[in-house]
Amino acid sequence: DVIDIRNLGKYGYFTYDPGFMSTAACNSAITFIDGEEGLLYYRGYPIEQLAENCDFLEVSHLLLHGELPDHNQREAFTSAIRQHTMLHDQMADVFRGFRRDAHPMAVMIAVIGAMAAFYPDNNDVNNPESRQVAAMRLLAKVPTVAAWSYKYNVGQPFIQPKNKLGYAENFMHMMFATPCEDYEPNPILAKAFERILILHADHEQNASTSTVRLVGSSGANPFACIAAGIASLWGPSHGGANEATLNMLEEIGDISRIGEFINRAKDKTDSFRLMGFGHRVYRNMDPRASIMRKTCHEVLNELGLHDDPMFKLAMQLEKIALEDDYFVSRKLYPNVDFYSGIVMRAMGIPNSMFTAIFALARTAGWISQWSEMNADTEQKIGRPRQLYLGPERREFVPLHQR
Ligand code: ACO
Repeated sequence: DVIDIRNLGKYGYFTYDPGFMSTAACNSAITFIDGEEGLLYYRGYPIEQLAENCDFLEVSHLLLHGELPDHNQREAFTSAIRQHTMLHDQMADVFRGFRRDAHPMAVMIAVIGAMAAFYPDNNDVNNPESRQVAAMRLLAKVPTVAAWSYKYNVGQPFIQPKNKLGYAENFMHMMFATPCEDYEPNPILAKAFERILILHADHEQNASTSTVRLVGSSGANPFACIAAGIASLWGPSHGGANEATLNMLEEIGDISRIGEFINRAKDKTDSFRLMGFGHRVYRNMDPRASIMRKTCHEVLNELGLHDDPMFKLAMQLEKIALEDDYFVSRKLYPNVDFYSGIVMRAMGIPNSMFTAIFALARTAGWISQWSEMNADTEQKIGRPRQLYLGPERREFVPLHQR
């Protein structure tokens, strides 16, 4: 719908575009998507090539600086990240203010937001050096925050980062090691995890990235902007879909009940949707889903889980939905979160951590988009207009006459 509100006179013309289905809110040179063709490029490189050949920090360098690093740049970038992986000792107290059963996303929003108070030296968003330090701090610390939110849930001591490990391995170490037992990295699982991070690193102007830009457009500090992005990501229509997918599979419980849930998803009087299916932009197979599907099978093979009832159920649901006319005609394919949820579940990561892991991957994209926006001297504060549908002017009525 495009409505010209001509009677607004001096205010000119407005377009009414609920959900921003056809409104570009910014220029960006970071990520290109062609939803019809199923294409996704970061800085011009197809996602398939990056997922196959790069690690997450190389991709983060690409998103942030515009180019893949050469050998020396890669070393310098990795070593700069390593300098920032620890959290300020007092930040542990922020975690301890929460109930033990707090959702990791709730904890992450608070802890990342609190970083604004720990690192006020990054408040100068117009200073490129300050922006750069903020980006490194966030990329380095968000995995520690995510892993500690899990440790807090399960009542185990916080595990410090081990900087000789790779980015994915370090996260797994902080999640799964205990003071009594080291975590032994499995290279196939670490590679699969890096792939999840690469595939989720950026996706142009989705809800959470637009949120980061909108908050940042007022000059807010980077930690507040990323905390806002995490809040936006949490919803089940966005990043929360991976957690919702596994919760849904648990609710379905058995292959014999798939038909019942497919029928519910098709029923327009029922608000139930098949979680992990459909995408706002991709009207073809999401290219990330194709990569993750392959990775999913590699991980299930590695762990010998192909006969696990939960994974059999997921594969059967995928098969039925891909053949069902309702889903085929609407081009509702399984999305990346359908498969990434299954992979993370197979790795022993609890459902409640899935969206937190999405947030740690997307931090690379958020901080790159935020830096790009702040480097643009012509950027304006984001300020959407509205189509007002409320009462016309009326006179105030005193309380005793109402
Ligand atoms: N299950 C059943 N029907 C669906 C689903 C679904 N998962 N998704 C869309 N539809 C139907 C709609 O009911 C609508 O049908 P109609 O034309 O008969 O009215 C049609 O498909 C088009 O759907 P829209 O709501 O217009 O699609 P939109 O682009 O607004 O929504 C979204 C996209 C939010 C992703 C939606 O497909 C959805 O809710 N999916 C499930 C949640 C999910 O997996 N989200 C993850 C997104 S990927 C990511 O964040 C990385």
